[in-house]
Amino acid sequence: MQASESGAVAFARENGARFVEELKALLRIPSISTSPEHAGDVRLAAQFVAEELSRIGMENVHLIETASAQHPGGHPLVYADWLKAGKDAVTVLCYGHYDVQPAEPLEEWVTPPFEPTERDGNLYARGAVDDKGQMWMHVKALESLFAANGGKLPVNVRVIVEGEEEVGGEGIASFVREHGDQLKADVAVVSDTEMFAPELPTLCVGLRGMIYTEIEVRGAKTDLHSGMYGGAAPNPFVALAQIISKLKDEQGRVQIPGFYDKVAAPTADELKAWKALPFDEEHYRKTEVGSRELTGEAEYSVLERTWARPTLDVHGMPGGFIGAGAKTVIPAKAVAKVSMRLVPDQTPAESFAAYKAFVGSIVPKGVEVEVRLIHSGDPIVVSTDNPYVKAATEAMHEVFGKETVFVRGGGSIPIVGDFVRELKIPTLMMGFGLPDDNLHAPNEKFHLANFHRGIESLIRFFASVGA
Ligand code: BES
Ligand code: MN
Ligand code: MN
Repeated sequence: MQASESGAVAFARENGARFVEELKALLRIPSISTSPEHAGDVRLAAQFVAEELSRIGMENVHLIETASAQHPGGHPLVYADWLKAGKDAVTVLCYGHYDVQPAEPLEEWVTPPFEPTERDGNLYARGAVDDKGQMWMHVKALESLFAANGGKLPVNVRVIVEGEEEVGGEGIASFVREHGDQLKADVAVVSDTEMFAPELPTLCVGLRGMIYTEIEVRGAKTDLHSGMYGGAAPNPFVALAQIISKLKDEQGRVQIPGFYDKVAAPTADELKAWKALPFDEEHYRKTEVGSRELTGEAEYSVLERTWARPTLDVHGMPGGFIGAGAKTVIPAKAVAKVSMRLVPDQTPAESFAAYKAFVGSIVPKGVEVEVRLIHSGDPIVVSTDNPYVKAATEAMHEVFGKETVFVRGGGSIPIVGDFVRELKIPTLMMGFGLPDDNLHAPNEKFHLANFHRGIESLIRFFASVGA
């Protein structure tokens, strides 16, 4: 171990409690990117991150605005760099997001989502692990390296933190496409994924893409008394249910013509490696999912179904009467929020076109349908054939004492595809979440031991890449 590395690790250990307190302050800011009423909070979170990046010694720290006529309501990016390791030194691009998902249903939280609370070695709050806590690991690893090395880093570093990941990441995608030169780096490091199991260091090498849509169905010109008009007037909710029921069959197959045409099967090596992972389907069903049975394409394993097969889900159906009690109304319109997870080599554009055409072909009598695309992201599989993967696995070995497993993730991080395709750099997804961290759900948490081990792993990674 190099002197710089051991000093930084020691610094991180001595200051670990403070790091957690700072993270709590960031977690108190409800930076919910999808809610216009929280736009001010989203900006506060961006400023919080920017201020800390300046304080630890990063340079050129500034917010990059993303709002425009094409992208109204866009949230700022936070940029920082430190490029004094020399022109031959490796440049690492650190990515994270400071925005979070909505916290509802609030009554399910044991302690309020924006009042971070420690219980049993976990820190509970919306954004604890996704992704404020994991992004903070990067900042704290850099701080530790600066502190232990007289204000220097072993590598050149650029940091880009976005505030729209949870709503599709359009702002950062435009920035990367138009100003990719400003993010020039040799490797990108993303900590926004999970470990396969507690204690098991993990690199995520693939993500599903997605298209998030709304189907709006309109029937009568206004809401109607269901006794006076029921039997004669079309009901948009029934029509919507009929449409949705035709999108996926009971075996979990999406019924959109051509939907599976470009689905690439995982390689034989990947399948073999996945079979060797410590996965207990019954435990997963009981403790993670908590349902009577698992569903989906029975001819594929759960890992294949969630990592390498596309799927379709319904998230909510706003409209009509949802208050307490009963109201006898035929609503004039109904909406369903429907998304599809995509896998290589499906594309959001082709998948959306096929879906829209299919929905158009199954519209029940008497209603009109509009299909809208809310956001989308490409699926991606990253290469592991680069020296940074080795540096990362060695760094994590020193911290966890175990060999790294390579997995894919079922979720999406839209910008990762752009890092690979636009910036043409290898991207490491080195995440420290756990399967039971409740991402997007009530009682999201970050296992604090993993917060600290993540910081140490990153310190060792930076040091090794800089050596
Ligand atoms: N960090 C997640 C993605 C993730 C989670 C990847 C677990 C792998 C394992 C990310 O913040 C996320 O939730 N992304 C959204 C993206 C979407 C809104 C475009 C998702 O997957 O729903
Ligand atoms: Mn995330
Ligand atoms: Mn998320």
